[in-house]
Amino acid sequence: MSTFKAIVIEKNDGGQNVRLADFDEANLMDGDVTIRVEWSTVNYKDGLAITGKAPVVRRWPMIAGVDLAGTVESSSNPEWKPGDKVILNGWGLGETYLGAYAEKARVKGDWLVRLPQGMSTRDAMAIGTAGYTAMLAAIALERHGLQPTSGPLVVTGAAGGVGSVAVAVLTKLGFAVTASTGRPQEADYLKRLGAAEIIERKELTGQVRPLGKERWAGGVDTVGSITLANVLSMIRYRGAVAACGLAGGMDLPTTVAPFILRGVSLLGIDSVSRPRADREEAWRRLQSGLDRAKLAEMTTEIGLADVIEAARQIVEGQVRGRLVVRIARRRSDFSDKAAAI
Ligand SMILES: NC(=O)c1ccc[n+]([C@@H]2O[C@H](COP(=O)([O-])OP(=O)(O)OC[C@H]3O[C@@H](n4cnc5c(N)ncnc54)[C@H](OP(=O)(O)O)[C@@H]3O)[C@@H](O)[C@H]2O)c1
Repeated sequence: MSTFKAIVIEKNDGGQNVRLADFDEANLMDGDVTIRVEWSTVNYKDGLAITGKAPVVRRWPMIAGVDLAGTVESSSNPEWKPGDKVILNGWGLGETYLGAYAEKARVKGDWLVRLPQGMSTRDAMAIGTAGYTAMLAAIALERHGLQPTSGPLVVTGAAGGVGSVAVAVLTKLGFAVTASTGRPQEADYLKRLGAAEIIERKELTGQVRPLGKERWAGGVDTVGSITLANVLSMIRYRGAVAACGLAGGMDLPTTVAPFILRGVSLLGIDSVSRPRADREEAWRRLQSGLDRAKLAEMTTEIGLADVIEAARQIVEGQVRGRLVVRIARRRSDFSDKAAAI
């Protein structure tokens, strides 16, 4: 029997049990590519899955983790060969399909994106689904026609993972960014990422008016609920908000006023089932459009055994920026050996 280490979620009478376990390779699911996982990350959704706070997991036992980067070990898919460096975000990993917090993963080759030239597998997971989603949001705002001359943008949940990357990416594109946070103590951090202005979360959690003062040309919202409703009421004529999160709630207590009186657009951002061409574009843009110094500033490295505690912290809004999870145990298992030291 050949086993590997994995974070396994099992169902029990009281709910679920999560532990670092030895997983039998024979129990991996069908797939045409087997990957030696080097790095993963902790996203909000991973927190929901591991804590059981939301019904993310649909199959038991489940290996948690929605994101991985690593090296192809074997493949019967003509597109991939042993030694290829790959990224996988979403596609049901850690939900319906055995996931990323594991030394090995067997997946469908169609789900993979090639690691961009010059990007390490560690950097790819420091970015992770959170960062890839932030770039999808930035691209959506650009496609809407927003430019730095259109006016400032707002990013909500700014000190979180999606928020931190959104601030860094949008400021590099030349936008003036207002960062909204519930953690004013992170103001200096957000300024180092490029934010021009910091506002307290509570400025966006008051009673929602159909229309407020026109403050921003657009925004990236990771919070949802009253926060998104307030942001929409403050968007300038013909602006747009890319909605990608629900950290504050799944509801949206808005009116049609911003849409029909100011021509505001609400752009939905999904990263999980995104077609491959969009994924490749986002990863290509991340290679050049996200300063590595800023990525390092927002990233904290943890080990596989630390993931369970990190999951609790992220759903409580206590994680700043991004967590990258070191999966490979031996230095020789990393394609990016410098990062493993
Ligand atoms: N659409 C997609 O495909 C996609 C992809 C990735 C993530 N997401 C979603 O995007 C959101 C952010 O993900 P993430 O990985 O960046 O999580 P995260 O690191 O935990 O960031 C979320 C941030 O939201 C703020 N926040 C937390 N609880 C809040 C509350 N009750 N009210 C208002 N603000 C609150 C906090 O920022 P401050 O402390 O700065 O206020 C927190 O850091 C999640 O809802 C996640 O599910 C969606």
